[in-house]
Amino acid sequence: MGWNSWNTFGAHIDETLILQTADVLLETGLAEAGYRYVVIDDLWEGKERDAQGRLTADPHKFPSGIAALAERIHAKGLKFGIYSCAGTHTCADQLASYGHEETDARTFADWGVDFLKYDFCNVPHGAHGPTLYRRMGQALRQTGRDILFSACEWGVNKPWLWGRWAGCHMWRTTGDIVDNWDSIKDIGFRRQAGLELYAGPNGWNDPDMMVVGMYGKGNVGAGGCSDSEYLCHFALWCLLASPLMIGCDVRAMNDATLSLLANPGLLRISQDSLGVQARRIAPEKDEWDWSDFPVFAKPLADGTIAVGLFNLSDGDGCNRMGVAWETLGLDTHRACLVSDAISGETIGEFRGSYSERVPKHDARVLLLTPVLG
Ligand code: GAL
Repeated sequence: MGWNSWNTFGAHIDETLILQTADVLLETGLAEAGYRYVVIDDLWEGKERDAQGRLTADPHKFPSGIAALAERIHAKGLKFGIYSCAGTHTCADQLASYGHEETDARTFADWGVDFLKYDFCNVPHGAHGPTLYRRMGQALRQTGRDILFSACEWGVNKPWLWGRWAGCHMWRTTGDIVDNWDSIKDIGFRRQAGLELYAGPNGWNDPDMMVVGMYGKGNVGAGGCSDSEYLCHFALWCLLASPLMIGCDVRAMNDATLSLLANPGLLRISQDSLGVQARRIAPEKDEWDWSDFPVFAKPLADGTIAVGLFNLSDGDGCNRMGVAWETLGLDTHRACLVSDAISGETIGEFRGSYSERVPKHDARVLLLTPVLG
Protein backbone atom coordinates (compact mmCIF):
# COMPACT_ATOMS: atom_id res chain seq x y z
CA MET A 1 0.00 0.00 0.00
CA GLY A 2 1.30 3.40 -0.90
CA TRP A 3 1.27 6.21 -3.40
CA ASN A 4 2.89 6.49 -6.84
CA SER A 5 3.51 9.68 -8.80
CA TRP A 6 2.70 8.46 -12.30
CA ASN A 7 -1.09 8.50 -12.64
CA THR A 8 -1.48 12.15 -11.78
CA PHE A 9 1.90 13.77 -12.20
CA GLY A 10 3.78 11.95 -14.99
CA ALA A 11 6.83 14.12 -15.72
CA HIS A 12 5.84 16.84 -13.26
CA ILE A 13 7.52 15.53 -10.14
CA ASP A 14 10.03 17.04 -7.76
CA GLU A 15 11.15 16.69 -4.19
CA THR A 16 8.67 19.26 -2.88
CA LEU A 17 5.74 17.27 -4.30
CA ILE A 18 7.07 14.02 -2.86
CA LEU A 19 7.59 15.49 0.61
CA GLN A 20 4.20 17.23 0.60
CA THR A 21 2.57 13.97 -0.43
CA ALA A 22 4.31 12.13 2.40
CA ASP A 23 3.08 14.76 4.86
CA VAL A 24 -0.49 14.47 3.61
CA LEU A 25 -0.38 10.67 3.93
CA LEU A 26 0.51 11.22 7.57
CA GLU A 27 -1.89 14.09 8.31
CA THR A 28 -4.92 12.38 6.78
CA GLY A 29 -4.33 9.04 8.50
CA LEU A 30 -3.73 7.25 5.20
CA ALA A 31 -0.25 6.24 6.38
CA GLU A 32 -1.75 4.88 9.59
CA ALA A 33 -4.30 2.99 7.48
CA GLY A 34 -1.37 1.28 5.75
CA TYR A 35 -0.31 3.46 2.79
CA ARG A 36 3.39 3.63 3.59
CA TYR A 37 5.32 3.40 0.31
CA VAL A 38 5.92 6.76 -1.39
CA VAL A 39 7.07 5.88 -4.90
CA ILE A 40 8.59 8.10 -7.59
CA ASP A 41 7.82 6.75 -11.05
CA ASP A 42 9.60 7.51 -14.33
CA LEU A 43 11.22 10.86 -15.16
CA TRP A 44 13.17 11.33 -11.96
CA GLU A 45 16.41 10.46 -13.78
CA GLY A 46 19.31 12.69 -14.78
CA LYS A 47 20.70 12.65 -18.31
CA GLU A 48 23.94 10.79 -17.53
CA ARG A 49 25.44 8.18 -15.25
CA ASP A 50 28.19 9.47 -12.94
CA ALA A 51 31.92 8.59 -13.11
CA GLN A 52 31.23 5.36 -11.16
CA GLY A 53 28.52 4.37 -13.64
CA ARG A 54 25.68 5.11 -11.21
CA LEU A 55 22.34 6.57 -12.19
CA THR A 56 21.85 10.18 -11.21
CA ALA A 57 18.72 12.18 -10.44
CA ASP A 58 17.49 15.17 -12.45
CA PRO A 59 19.20 18.02 -10.53
CA HIS A 60 16.35 20.44 -11.16
CA LYS A 61 13.64 18.14 -9.85
CA PHE A 62 15.66 16.58 -7.03
CA PRO A 63 18.38 19.09 -6.09
CA SER A 64 19.05 17.42 -2.72
CA GLY A 65 19.54 14.03 -4.33
CA ILE A 66 17.62 10.82 -3.88
CA ALA A 67 19.47 9.61 -0.77
CA ALA A 68 18.54 12.80 1.09
CA LEU A 69 14.94 12.52 -0.04
CA ALA A 70 14.74 8.89 1.06
CA GLU A 71 16.16 9.87 4.43
CA ARG A 72 13.48 12.53 4.89
CA ILE A 73 10.76 10.07 3.91
CA HIS A 74 12.17 7.54 6.38
CA ALA A 75 12.27 10.20 9.10
CA LYS A 76 8.50 10.51 8.69
CA GLY A 77 8.17 6.76 9.31
CA LEU A 78 7.38 6.00 5.66
CA LYS A 79 9.07 3.92 2.98
CA PHE A 80 10.58 5.19 -0.23
CA GLY A 81 10.27 3.72 -3.72
CA ILE A 82 11.79 4.44 -7.09
CA TYR A 83 11.47 3.32 -10.72
CA SER A 84 13.74 1.84 -13.34
CA CYS A 85 13.36 -0.38 -16.36
CA ALA A 86 14.71 -3.71 -17.63
CA GLY A 87 15.58 -2.17 -21.01
CA THR A 88 18.33 0.26 -22.01
CA HIS A 89 15.91 3.16 -21.56
CA THR A 90 12.69 3.68 -19.65
CA CYS A 91 9.31 4.08 -21.30
CA ALA A 92 9.85 7.84 -21.17
CA ASP A 93 13.28 7.39 -22.74
CA GLN A 94 15.45 7.91 -19.66
CA LEU A 95 18.55 5.87 -18.84
CA ALA A 96 17.64 2.44 -17.48
CA SER A 97 19.18 -0.66 -15.98
CA TYR A 98 19.87 -3.14 -18.81
CA GLY A 99 23.48 -4.27 -18.36
CA HIS A 100 23.78 -2.20 -15.16
CA GLU A 101 21.60 -4.32 -12.89
CA GLU A 102 24.15 -4.91 -10.12
CA THR A 103 25.32 -1.29 -10.07
CA ASP A 104 21.78 0.06 -10.03
CA ALA A 105 20.59 -2.34 -7.35
CA ARG A 106 23.58 -1.34 -5.22
CA THR A 107 22.92 2.35 -5.86
CA PHE A 108 19.26 2.01 -4.90
CA ALA A 109 20.20 0.13 -1.73
CA ASP A 110 22.80 2.78 -0.85
CA TRP A 111 20.20 5.50 -1.36
CA GLY A 112 17.84 3.76 1.06
CA VAL A 113 15.28 2.62 -1.50
CA ASP A 114 12.62 0.22 -0.14
CA PHE A 115 10.64 -0.46 -3.34
CA LEU A 116 11.65 -0.77 -6.99
CA LYS A 117 9.14 -0.61 -9.82
CA TYR A 118 10.83 -2.21 -12.83
CA ASP A 119 9.38 -1.52 -16.27
CA PHE A 120 9.74 -3.35 -19.59
CA CYS A 121 10.38 -0.79 -22.36
CA ASN A 122 13.35 -0.73 -24.75
CA VAL A 123 14.46 -4.26 -24.03
CA PRO A 124 17.13 -5.25 -26.59
CA HIS A 125 15.88 -7.45 -29.39
CA GLY A 126 16.14 -11.10 -28.45
CA ALA A 127 16.55 -10.48 -24.71
CA HIS A 128 14.41 -12.84 -22.60
CA GLY A 129 12.04 -10.88 -20.37
CA PRO A 130 11.85 -13.25 -17.41
CA THR A 131 15.66 -13.49 -17.36
CA LEU A 132 15.96 -9.71 -17.08
CA TYR A 133 13.62 -9.71 -14.06
CA ARG A 134 15.52 -12.61 -12.54
CA ARG A 135 18.74 -10.65 -12.99
CA MET A 136 17.43 -7.61 -11.15
CA GLY A 137 15.76 -9.81 -8.52
CA GLN A 138 19.11 -11.46 -7.84
CA ALA A 139 20.95 -8.13 -7.83
CA LEU A 140 18.49 -6.72 -5.29
CA ARG A 141 18.82 -9.72 -3.00
CA GLN A 142 22.60 -9.43 -3.15
CA THR A 143 22.42 -5.92 -1.70
CA GLY A 144 21.09 -7.38 1.55
CA ARG A 145 18.49 -4.59 1.75
CA ASP A 146 14.81 -5.41 2.01
CA ILE A 147 13.54 -3.98 -1.29
CA LEU A 148 10.06 -4.76 -2.55
CA PHE A 149 10.46 -5.70 -6.23
CA SER A 150 7.51 -4.65 -8.38
CA ALA A 151 7.57 -5.98 -11.96
CA CYS A 152 5.86 -3.78 -14.52
CA GLU A 153 5.93 -6.18 -17.46
CA TRP A 154 2.24 -5.66 -18.39
CA GLY A 155 1.51 -9.40 -18.45
CA VAL A 156 3.41 -9.86 -21.74
CA ASN A 157 5.20 -13.07 -20.66
CA LYS A 158 2.62 -14.11 -18.04
CA PRO A 159 4.67 -12.92 -15.05
CA TRP A 160 2.24 -14.66 -12.68
CA LEU A 161 3.92 -17.90 -13.81
CA TRP A 162 7.52 -16.90 -13.06
CA GLY A 163 7.47 -13.59 -11.13
CA ARG A 164 7.77 -15.11 -7.69
CA TRP A 165 10.63 -17.29 -8.84
CA ALA A 166 12.38 -14.27 -10.37
CA GLY A 167 12.24 -12.48 -7.02
CA CYS A 168 9.30 -10.20 -7.82
CA HIS A 169 6.82 -9.48 -5.03
CA MET A 170 4.15 -8.14 -7.36
CA TRP A 171 3.70 -8.10 -11.10
CA ARG A 172 1.52 -6.03 -13.38
CA THR A 173 -0.91 -8.26 -15.23
CA THR A 174 -2.00 -5.77 -17.92
CA GLY A 175 -1.11 -2.58 -19.75
CA ASP A 176 -1.75 0.80 -18.18
CA ILE A 177 -4.95 1.79 -16.45
CA VAL A 178 -6.54 5.13 -17.33
CA ASP A 179 -9.06 7.07 -15.32
CA ASN A 180 -12.39 5.99 -16.74
CA TRP A 181 -15.04 3.30 -16.28
CA ASP A 182 -14.15 1.35 -19.43
CA SER A 183 -10.57 0.96 -18.26
CA ILE A 184 -11.65 -0.24 -14.82
CA LYS A 185 -14.02 -2.74 -16.40
CA ASP A 186 -11.39 -3.99 -18.82
CA ILE A 187 -8.36 -4.15 -16.51
CA GLY A 188 -10.14 -4.96 -13.28
CA PHE A 189 -13.21 -6.95 -14.10
CA ARG A 190 -12.31 -8.56 -17.44
CA ARG A 191 -8.62 -9.33 -17.16
CA GLN A 192 -7.94 -10.49 -13.61
CA ALA A 193 -10.38 -13.39 -13.48
CA GLY A 194 -8.52 -16.67 -13.63
CA LEU A 195 -5.29 -15.32 -12.13
CA GLU A 196 -6.34 -15.87 -8.52
CA LEU A 197 -4.33 -19.06 -8.10
CA TYR A 198 -1.06 -17.20 -8.65
CA ALA A 199 -1.45 -14.60 -5.91
CA GLY A 200 -0.50 -15.00 -2.29
CA PRO A 201 1.82 -13.69 0.41
CA ASN A 202 5.03 -12.39 -1.16
CA GLY A 203 3.73 -12.47 -4.72
CA TRP A 204 0.69 -10.51 -5.89
CA ASN A 205 -1.08 -9.87 -9.16
CA ASP A 206 -1.02 -6.13 -9.81
CA PRO A 207 -3.85 -4.68 -11.91
CA ASP A 208 -2.06 -1.29 -11.79
CA MET A 209 -2.05 1.77 -9.61
CA MET A 210 -5.43 3.13 -8.64
CA VAL A 211 -7.23 6.02 -10.30
CA VAL A 212 -9.56 6.57 -7.32
CA GLY A 213 -10.11 10.27 -6.73
CA MET A 214 -8.54 11.51 -9.97
CA TYR A 215 -11.85 12.66 -11.50
CA GLY A 216 -10.25 12.88 -14.93
CA LYS A 217 -7.33 15.10 -13.87
CA GLY A 218 -3.67 14.36 -14.46
CA ASN A 219 -1.42 12.18 -16.54
CA VAL A 220 -3.80 9.24 -17.04
CA GLY A 221 -6.99 11.25 -16.51
CA ALA A 222 -9.27 10.11 -19.29
CA GLY A 223 -12.74 11.37 -18.48
CA GLY A 224 -12.78 10.30 -14.86
CA CYS A 225 -15.27 8.21 -12.92
CA SER A 226 -18.19 8.79 -10.58
CA ASP A 227 -17.83 8.08 -6.87
CA SER A 228 -19.75 4.82 -7.15
CA GLU A 229 -17.49 3.74 -10.04
CA TYR A 230 -14.45 4.49 -7.88
CA LEU A 231 -16.09 2.40 -5.17
CA CYS A 232 -16.37 -0.54 -7.61
CA HIS A 233 -12.70 -0.04 -8.52
CA PHE A 234 -11.44 0.13 -4.95
CA ALA A 235 -13.65 -2.67 -3.66
CA LEU A 236 -12.47 -4.93 -6.47
CA TRP A 237 -8.79 -4.14 -5.84
CA CYS A 238 -9.35 -4.99 -2.15
CA LEU A 239 -11.11 -8.25 -2.95
CA LEU A 240 -8.36 -9.17 -5.43
CA ALA A 241 -5.73 -8.63 -2.72
CA SER A 242 -4.04 -6.30 -5.20
CA PRO A 243 -1.35 -3.86 -4.23
CA LEU A 244 -3.09 -0.58 -3.35
CA MET A 245 -1.08 2.25 -4.82
CA ILE A 246 -2.91 5.57 -4.68
CA GLY A 247 -2.61 7.52 -7.92
CA CYS A 248 -4.47 10.76 -7.21
CA ASP A 249 -3.10 14.02 -5.85
CA VAL A 250 -3.68 13.38 -2.16
CA ARG A 251 -2.97 17.04 -1.39
CA ALA A 252 -6.21 17.95 -3.17
CA MET A 253 -8.39 14.90 -2.54
CA ASN A 254 -12.00 15.34 -1.40
CA ASP A 255 -13.69 13.66 1.58
CA ALA A 256 -15.27 10.94 -0.55
CA THR A 257 -11.84 9.88 -1.83
CA LEU A 258 -10.25 9.89 1.60
CA SER A 259 -13.01 7.92 3.25
CA LEU A 260 -13.04 5.36 0.45
CA LEU A 261 -9.25 4.85 0.45
CA ALA A 262 -9.25 4.58 4.25
CA ASN A 263 -12.39 2.43 4.58
CA PRO A 264 -11.54 0.01 7.40
CA GLY A 265 -13.85 -2.77 6.22
CA LEU A 266 -12.45 -2.83 2.70
CA LEU A 267 -8.86 -2.57 3.92
CA ARG A 268 -9.41 -5.46 6.30
CA ILE A 269 -10.46 -7.55 3.27
CA SER A 270 -7.49 -6.35 1.24
CA GLN A 271 -4.90 -6.98 3.93
CA ASP A 272 -6.30 -10.21 5.35
CA SER A 273 -3.46 -12.51 6.42
CA LEU A 274 -4.66 -15.51 4.42
CA GLY A 275 -3.72 -13.54 1.31
CA VAL A 276 -6.21 -15.20 -1.03
CA GLN A 277 -7.25 -13.32 -4.16
CA ALA A 278 -11.01 -13.27 -4.70
CA ARG A 279 -12.41 -15.61 -7.30
CA ARG A 280 -15.29 -14.71 -9.54
CA ILE A 281 -17.93 -17.16 -8.39
CA ALA A 282 -20.71 -15.95 -10.66
CA PRO A 283 -21.15 -16.37 -13.46
CA GLU A 284 -19.20 -19.57 -13.05
CA LYS A 285 -18.93 -20.72 -16.65
CA ASP A 286 -15.72 -19.61 -18.25
CA GLU A 287 -13.44 -17.39 -16.18
CA TRP A 288 -12.80 -15.05 -19.08
CA ASP A 289 -16.47 -14.66 -20.00
CA TRP A 290 -17.87 -11.20 -19.62
CA SER A 291 -20.70 -10.50 -17.24
CA ASP A 292 -22.36 -7.25 -16.23
CA PHE A 293 -23.18 -8.76 -12.83
CA PRO A 294 -20.05 -10.43 -11.50
CA VAL A 295 -19.87 -11.72 -7.94
CA PHE A 296 -16.46 -12.14 -6.33
CA ALA A 297 -15.70 -14.00 -3.11
CA LYS A 298 -12.60 -13.94 -0.93
CA PRO A 299 -12.16 -16.25 2.05
CA LEU A 300 -10.62 -14.52 5.07
CA ALA A 301 -8.35 -16.01 7.70
CA ASP A 302 -10.99 -16.12 10.47
CA GLY A 303 -13.58 -18.09 8.47
CA THR A 304 -15.49 -15.03 7.28
CA ILE A 305 -16.11 -14.78 3.54
CA ALA A 306 -16.05 -11.41 1.80
CA VAL A 307 -18.40 -11.14 -1.17
CA GLY A 308 -18.54 -8.35 -3.74
CA LEU A 309 -21.70 -7.82 -5.80
CA PHE A 310 -20.91 -5.57 -8.75
CA ASN A 311 -23.47 -4.06 -11.09
CA LEU A 312 -21.53 -3.06 -14.20
CA SER A 313 -24.60 -2.68 -16.38
CA ASP A 314 -25.68 0.54 -18.04
CA GLY A 315 -29.41 -0.11 -17.63
CA ASP A 316 -31.69 2.08 -15.57
CA GLY A 317 -32.11 1.57 -11.87
CA CYS A 318 -31.09 -1.36 -9.73
CA ASN A 319 -30.67 -5.04 -10.31
CA ARG A 320 -31.20 -7.77 -7.75
CA MET A 321 -27.93 -9.56 -7.11
CA GLY A 322 -27.09 -12.25 -4.67
CA VAL A 323 -24.94 -15.05 -3.47
CA ALA A 324 -25.83 -18.67 -2.77
CA TRP A 325 -24.04 -20.37 0.13
CA GLU A 326 -23.51 -23.35 -2.19
CA THR A 327 -21.10 -21.36 -4.38
CA LEU A 328 -19.00 -20.45 -1.35
CA GLY A 329 -18.52 -23.94 0.01
CA LEU A 330 -20.90 -23.16 2.88
CA ASP A 331 -23.54 -25.62 4.04
CA THR A 332 -26.88 -24.35 2.68
CA HIS A 333 -28.43 -24.77 6.13
CA ARG A 334 -25.68 -22.85 7.89
CA ALA A 335 -26.82 -19.54 9.33
CA CYS A 336 -24.54 -16.67 8.46
CA LEU A 337 -24.39 -13.21 9.89
CA VAL A 338 -24.37 -10.87 6.92
CA SER A 339 -22.90 -7.42 7.34
CA ASP A 340 -22.10 -4.53 5.07
CA ALA A 341 -18.29 -4.40 4.88
CA ILE A 342 -18.23 -0.77 3.80
CA SER A 343 -20.50 0.72 6.47
CA GLY A 344 -19.75 -1.91 9.09
CA GLU A 345 -23.48 -2.33 9.74
CA THR A 346 -25.02 -5.70 10.49
CA ILE A 347 -27.71 -6.67 7.98
CA GLY A 348 -28.97 -9.81 9.68
CA GLU A 349 -28.83 -13.58 9.86
CA PHE A 350 -29.55 -15.57 6.69
CA ARG A 351 -29.51 -19.18 5.52
CA GLY A 352 -28.83 -20.52 2.02
CA SER A 353 -28.53 -17.26 0.17
CA TYR A 354 -28.65 -13.53 0.39
CA SER A 355 -29.60 -10.96 -2.22
CA GLU A 356 -30.22 -7.28 -2.52
CA ARG A 357 -30.65 -4.61 -5.14
CA VAL A 358 -27.48 -3.00 -6.45
CA PRO A 359 -27.63 0.23 -8.46
CA LYS A 360 -25.85 0.34 -11.81
CA HIS A 361 -22.13 1.14 -11.73
CA ASP A 362 -22.15 0.42 -8.02
CA ALA A 363 -21.15 -2.35 -5.64
CA ARG A 364 -22.09 -3.98 -2.37
CA VAL A 365 -19.44 -5.70 -0.32
CA LEU A 366 -20.69 -8.16 2.26
CA LEU A 367 -19.07 -10.09 5.06
CA LEU A 368 -20.60 -13.51 5.68
CA THR A 369 -19.70 -14.90 9.07
CA PRO A 370 -20.92 -18.44 9.77
CA VAL A 371 -22.84 -18.66 13.03
CA LEU A 372 -21.41 -21.71 14.73
CA GLY A 373 -22.60 -23.77 17.67
C1 GAL B 1 4.70 2.38 -18.38
C2 GAL B 1 4.15 1.83 -17.07
C3 GAL B 1 3.53 2.98 -16.32
C4 GAL B 1 4.58 4.04 -16.08
C5 GAL B 1 5.25 4.47 -17.39
C6 GAL B 1 6.45 5.37 -17.14
O1 GAL B 1 5.26 1.35 -19.09
O2 GAL B 1 3.25 0.80 -17.31
O3 GAL B 1 2.97 2.52 -15.12
O4 GAL B 1 5.53 3.55 -15.17
O5 GAL B 1 5.69 3.35 -18.12
O6 GAL B 1 7.09 5.74 -18.31
